[in-house]
Amino acid sequence: MKVLSVVNQKGGSGKTSFSVLLTLAVASAGKRVLAVDCDPQYGLSAILAPAEKVERLGLFELLSGLAKLEEVAVPVNRDGITFDLIPSEYRLESIATTLDPFALKRKFKNLKKYDYVIFDTPPTVQGISRAASMIADGIYIPSDIPIPSLGPTLYTLGSLRDVEKEGKVVLVGYKEPKEELKGCTARLAREFKDKLNGNCAGVLPRNVTMAKAVADPEFKWTAAMRAKILAPILEITEIQ
Ligand SMILES: Nc1ncnc2c1ncn2[C@@H]1O[C@H](COP(=O)(O)OP(=O)(O)OP(=O)(O)O)[C@@H](O)[C@H]1O
Ligand SMILES: [Mg+2]
Repeated sequence: MKVLSVVNQKGGSGKTSFSVLLTLAVASAGKRVLAVDCDPQYGLSAILAPAEKVERLGLFELLSGLAKLEEVAVPVNRDGITFDLIPSEYRLESIATTLDPFALKRKFKNLKKYDYVIFDTPPTVQGISRAASMIADGIYIPSDIPIPSLGPTLYTLGSLRDVEKEGKVVLVGYKEPKEELKGCTARLAREFKDKLNGNCAGVLPRNVTMAKAVADPEFKWTAAMRAKILAPILEITEIQ
């Protein structure tokens, strides 16, 4: 069993969207996947397993010792791609910021039922995000490209080094500037790549199809769409 964590201190940088696509990609490759929503804002749960009632058994109950993993994992079927999800909601807030990193490790150690556990985390590098990073075999840092994202992305990379982990940045919506191109956008794109200093795992397109693939439950995961959207994610993560 391997743990993949998706982190970035920057809010709205594409963590949840990448977590959704990563979950679908790894599950579509035939792996047994458990996606875990570590964010009290529960974006991952709302997308992958919307519930009529917000309060339901989930990560809060698991970490508080009120329920077992089998009781909180929800089976999800996205157009034939199947996996489990541990949902969250706002009550997770009461423990997320001060969580003991070993509490997460204890609950997710060597689960026999899964090949991959994928953690989507809130926009911070402390608390539950730090715990998810500390137990990860692979850490992905989605980053969109506007100016305010560079600082937090570099800060996230640095904070991972403090716990002796290495993160890999996925540039969301990045376009390589043509050599002759000047101006703010081209300068920023170059600066992003330079400052990441080899920590970039790949680029994810940012467009309407990607947004739909993530959020539209009616999205058709045809063979063509799997090849176009999910196969590049397996390449980025080197999962076969
Ligand atoms: N590849 C993409 N293509 C198009 N839109 C995207 C893509 N990735 C993210 N977005 C959009 O950007 C917004 C923020 O994305 P997302 O919720 O994934 O970020 P986040 O890092 O999880 O945010 P938070 O820090 O609040 O948890 C959303 O509206 C989402 O639809
Ligand atoms: Mg999110």
